[in-house]
Amino acid sequence: MIKPCNSIITGTGAALPDQVITNRDLEEMVETNNEWIVSRTGIRERRKLEAGLSNADLSERAAREALSRAGVDPAELDMILVATVTPDHHTPSTSCILQARLEAFKAGAMDISAGCTGFIYALSVAHQFIYSGAYRKVLVVGVEILTRFTDWEDRSTCVLFGDGAGAVVVEAATEESRGIIDYTLKSDGRGARLLYVPAGGSALPASHETVSNRMHYLVMNGNEIFKFAVKVVENTLFELLQKVNGKPEELDMIILHQANLRIIDHIRKHLRLPPEKFPVNIDRLGNTSSATIPIAMHEEIMAGRLKEGDLVAMVAFGAGLTWGGVLMRW
Ligand code: UT7
Repeated sequence: MIKPCNSIITGTGAALPDQVITNRDLEEMVETNNEWIVSRTGIRERRKLEAGLSNADLSERAAREALSRAGVDPAELDMILVATVTPDHHTPSTSCILQARLEAFKAGAMDISAGCTGFIYALSVAHQFIYSGAYRKVLVVGVEILTRFTDWEDRSTCVLFGDGAGAVVVEAATEESRGIIDYTLKSDGRGARLLYVPAGGSALPASHETVSNRMHYLVMNGNEIFKFAVKVVENTLFELLQKVNGKPEELDMIILHQANLRIIDHIRKHLRLPPEKFPVNIDRLGNTSSATIPIAMHEEIMAGRLKEGDLVAMVAFGAGLTWGGVLMRW
């Protein structure tokens, strides 16, 4: 039995930079090749935000589209949540910059930092605000400008990441048969150094030395994250399904974080589910961290594949370590 839901996504949007970086382009920059990148990751190209634009620019574009599709005026928003690890500044939050641009002056605003699980965390927070009766309209943005934190001399990371933004408007629902059913949020800080930016924070402030040692770029232990991901994605899916006494085959769509096509394929084959149930954008966009799931959701809606009444699970994992999922009836 699915319990009544009372928060639904009423509008989605996405924004991508125009500049495309292909695997062939990367062959000119580091010791890599198209065949390695495609076979090990599934990535063929990614987007890079042009100089002069920032996280808030991409967030604003995605947010305006989601608001317009939801038919919500920014002035009606109660809260703005921006999930990102690549904000415009350490402070203030990108959500505050976005709030001013949207002139959403009634809304509170905060950023949520939960690695690539950021959108799942932010969507769960939005749901709780609505479920508790505190708020009725919340804007959630998942956005990353990872190309600005990528070491373009490190082939083990620079081939993986891309820029992008996805946004959703979450509203208190009048219909009880649709919306967010449940969520699960997890972390294990013992893995903090498996994916991190060594310098530029209070632990090791930026200095000439940290910059010349390239310590303000992302460092990742890809193998360990891969093993962790395969384990937690499946556990999270079963935890969500348990909440509704459901089976994997009852899910109409499973939107997984896009970190590696091999992770998605592994889960799909293990669960013996058809590829149509697993949206993919990593081939075109690379790993856009907090943005992979809201962009995929928007793409599926625009393509008419995600339909009212569908049972949808979303699962992500990433830096922190963090992982989690949301189950909803679309
Ligand atoms: O969003 C959440 C966080 N991120 C992730 O979830 C990423 C999870 N991890 C992964 O997706 C994979 O571990 C990677 C795609 C990052 C790496 O794939 P892998 O199959 O684990 O490769 P590897 O790191 O074990 O490297 C295999 C070989 C190495 O060479 P040797 O030592 O075997 O000679 C690497 O030096 O591939 C080499 N290599 C490359 N070769 C060509 C590493 N990067 C590249 C490259 N081009 N770009």
